[in-house]
Amino acid sequence: MLLESSVADPVGAEEATRLARDLYGLNVTAKLLPGEYDDNFHLTAADGAHFVLKVMHPARERAFIDLQCQALQHLAKHAETVVLPRVVPTQRGELQTEITAADGTQRLLWLLTFVPGTVLAKVRPHSDELLRSLGGLLGAIDSGLQNFSHPAAQRKLKWDLSAAGWIKEHLNEIADSSRRLLVEKFLALYDSEIVPALGRFRRSVIYGDANDYNVLVSDPWPLPRKAVSLIDFGDMHYGIIVSEVAIAAAYATLGKKDVLCAATSVVAGYHEVFPLQEVEIAALYNLIGMRLAVSVTNSAHRKTIKADDAYVTVSEAPAWEALERLAKIHLRFAHYSFRQACGFTAVPQHEKLQRWLEKNGRDAASLFDADLHTAPSIVLDLSVGSEFLGANPHESETAALTRKIPAPMEEAQVSIAIGRYDEPRLLYNSPLFGADASSLEERRTIHVGMDLFADPGTSIHAPLDGIIHTLANNAAPLDYGPLVILQHDAGDAGAFFTLYGHLDEEWLARLKIGQCIARGEKFARIGTSEENGGWPPHLHFQIILDLLDLDANFPGVAYASQRAVWTNLSPDPNLLISIPDNRFPKPDPTVQETLTARRELLGKNLSISYEKPLKIVRGWMQHLYDETAHAYLDFYNNVPLVGHSHPRVVQAVQKQIALLNTNTRYVHDVVNHYVQRLTQHLPAPLRVCFFVNSGSEANELALRLARTHTGLEDIIVLEHAYHGNTSALIDISPYKFDGPGGSGRKPWVHVASLPDDYRGKYRRDDPQAGTKYAAHVGEILDAMRKQQGHAPAAYIAETLPSVGGQIVFPPNYLEEVYACVRAAGGLCIADEVQVGFGRLGTHFWGFETQHVIPDIVVLGKPIGNGFPLAAVITTREIARSFDNGMEFFSTFGGNPVACAAGLAVLKVVEEENLQKHALRVGNYLKKSLLSLQERLPIIGDVRGSGLFLGVDLVLDPVTRSAATAQAAYVVNRLRECGVLTGTDGPFNNVLKLRPPLIISERDADIFTEALRAVLAEDSAQPM
Ligand SMILES: Cc1ncc(COP(=O)(O)O)c(C=O)c1O
Repeated sequence: MLLESSVADPVGAEEATRLARDLYGLNVTAKLLPGEYDDNFHLTAADGAHFVLKVMHPARERAFIDLQCQALQHLAKHAETVVLPRVVPTQRGELQTEITAADGTQRLLWLLTFVPGTVLAKVRPHSDELLRSLGGLLGAIDSGLQNFSHPAAQRKLKWDLSAAGWIKEHLNEIADSSRRLLVEKFLALYDSEIVPALGRFRRSVIYGDANDYNVLVSDPWPLPRKAVSLIDFGDMHYGIIVSEVAIAAAYATLGKKDVLCAATSVVAGYHEVFPLQEVEIAALYNLIGMRLAVSVTNSAHRKTIKADDAYVTVSEAPAWEALERLAKIHLRFAHYSFRQACGFTAVPQHEKLQRWLEKNGRDAASLFDADLHTAPSIVLDLSVGSEFLGANPHESETAALTRKIPAPMEEAQVSIAIGRYDEPRLLYNSPLFGADASSLEERRTIHVGMDLFADPGTSIHAPLDGIIHTLANNAAPLDYGPLVILQHDAGDAGAFFTLYGHLDEEWLARLKIGQCIARGEKFARIGTSEENGGWPPHLHFQIILDLLDLDANFPGVAYASQRAVWTNLSPDPNLLISIPDNRFPKPDPTVQETLTARRELLGKNLSISYEKPLKIVRGWMQHLYDETAHAYLDFYNNVPLVGHSHPRVVQAVQKQIALLNTNTRYVHDVVNHYVQRLTQHLPAPLRVCFFVNSGSEANELALRLARTHTGLEDIIVLEHAYHGNTSALIDISPYKFDGPGGSGRKPWVHVASLPDDYRGKYRRDDPQAGTKYAAHVGEILDAMRKQQGHAPAAYIAETLPSVGGQIVFPPNYLEEVYACVRAAGGLCIADEVQVGFGRLGTHFWGFETQHVIPDIVVLGKPIGNGFPLAAVITTREIARSFDNGMEFFSTFGGNPVACAAGLAVLKVVEEENLQKHALRVGNYLKKSLLSLQERLPIIGDVRGSGLFLGVDLVLDPVTRSAATAQAAYVVNRLRECGVLTGTDGPFNNVLKLRPPLIISERDADIFTEALRAVLAEDSAQPM
């Protein structure tokens, strides 16, 4: 019987149970495992032990099983850190035995311990870390197998990558001709590059089949998840070691958009544990492609035998897709990426050429008539965090740049300005550079040449002798325009290239490919904006060590995720220009350096978001950008109410601070004007305003007002409330005084139940819930009066508790609470720091949703769109009481600049109709989230209003127990996907959505889609 054909009458579970008892003395239940040829069973013994019983296909040979048994026993000693299945001998001490199955066939049988885990194919997501750990696991196994040998390992196997040429005979079985060509491409490369090099690759017994159904991964928790074990040692063979990692990398590419990144992670992990040699790394790209090619050809072949083989059609599609993606990557670029990941210089000739350039670059001729080494020049900051450019992308558009760049040059009286090499930039907003501006996908941002801004018509000279290799006019907007690539001979170090972009057309027309250009010879001129791709006139100069067959399309701007490889391919052009180093500012600290310095310089308990902290250097509207110009959609920060760096707010602040900024001891019209405009949004009698600098100061002042007015001290607060960071506010914030480091409740503080109608005592199905929660405040008042003879100075609450978990009060709650607090002689303070200013969509303020008018309203966070400003607004009567002889003064509070900021914010909110916008987009977002909730039981509740929403994640929709760990996971994964959120609530399980009010429906879709994808991942599932 051929191995390819299945056994007609397989062994059943009952027979397996009997065999386990008779041969191993085990009392088990048996469950058939999926498999192609052999009959495998998962056995569960009475004592809870688990095994795998393998009843082999009749065509299997004894030696083949012995190979696996011996290898596993060897690895138990030589790869102790790896948890692999162990061979369990029969009662007679045999590692394998032979039986006659019920159908009369002779079958070999053996027993292994069962290793728990999820197969990689079923794991979501395949993080870089996980794939790296897979590489590491294989590295440990191969390292352990180095001194293992077995005669049966010398096998003829279709999966042996040192003998993959067999697919040649079956190419005609691939029906689609373009796909056949794809396989032929890898096959040709295999024949020309791999076959002749086979003798140079190390060989040993290898595992040989790290496909995604053979790799076991640890549980979703604790994180990080790791590849922990392997099953099915049936493809072990004596082969080329590098094929081990190539096979695993090939499977890692399945279903991935970025196949190179997935493969690189596996390679890096393997190399870390069991170092690869350079010659092996050079073979990886082709071997990975070959494994996929063998796989798809095998499928095509099997289809000729059994046309409707479901097993084949399912596994075939992702392999074709991966092969197509892989084929689009230049083999040498892949090679350089693998080298880089393994700690080698990405481009093998880099070091030699770098030394050559260092030595000969000093004698290079100047690119311009002026000697660039001595001519005065300035360095422009065109980076993502450039103050020169600012946040507004319109200011970085080419027309604006063309207007802008001459100013600093004139000021410094120079005719040359330099745009830096290896600079992350946000200038490249065309599809040429990857994703569009509003997308969160990575786009090309790292400038790998050097720009020399000078007048159009400026002559360009060759720095070294060279031959014209490429002439082109890349006329698309933002492309190179007319360009020349010269090839240079660096002797023993080989050849390299220099690229000159944004030239003039007239001179380009005079040049010929193959023409020699002598060192110092004038061969081109800087083009005008009209002809150079639309850019300000400049020369883009770049050194290229390997053109990767891209010629005129060689990128001048690279993906940040591939930065190390591209900067190795294109070293610093200053090696040939020699602008003095002291003209360049010091490079910015890396995220890690900034983080380390922050930890040294600032208090350690200053909180920081995300497991991988972000270094944000620019903000524009709903987007934030990190130091590599990676965009993040900000769904978290409610401070930039009208958008990060809103130009009207920026301008208002700039204008006012350029004129006057002083304290409130002088009268100023902007301040009065602002108060008038602000109080127009508030109901009478809330007409008197005090300005301070932060929400904390404002709440602190609110307490003082209440206490002075009432002559009382006690304060009633809500469970889990937070009102600020001063001593008094910590005392009235259960979130702090009952939290880590807190020192408990002070006697003058009384904590009322949080009216949470989702998880609290009274829920949405109870129409009296508001009244019942309010009654608790009444009980507190009674107890105060009876036990202490006290009445409250104030009841303070956020009008929709945000820190409490984006809570919406049930109807009537505040109305009834305010009534009973006032009846007891206390004031009612509304903390609107988080929710005010139209965010709720339906109302401008949170208190309006509860049909109450507070005695004191506290405003902060969004009031100045990030400019330090906060306000306390109260009645004339309360303000009069406070005016008791003690002067009130805040040095910075409500200064003209702060008020200019506040005024600009109000104008934008009003004139751009942002409250209405928040309602529309908020409703849209909430609807999408509610429909997600219908499909995903982890979403227990979606609540809130406008763009103040909470997504309550639960382990069980019935018990509503909080999915705290999952929420933390979701927030960190969303950050990795480019969406910023946070969690809050007593259990930190509520996703807090408070984006700037200007987000669009498209942003809402981006968020919902990202959330949907992350919630489908394993670690986001209830445990
Ligand atoms: C509800 C509430 N009140 C007051 C504050 C204190 O504001 P600030 O941090 O501006 O002092 C905060 C801050 O998070 C808050 O959330």
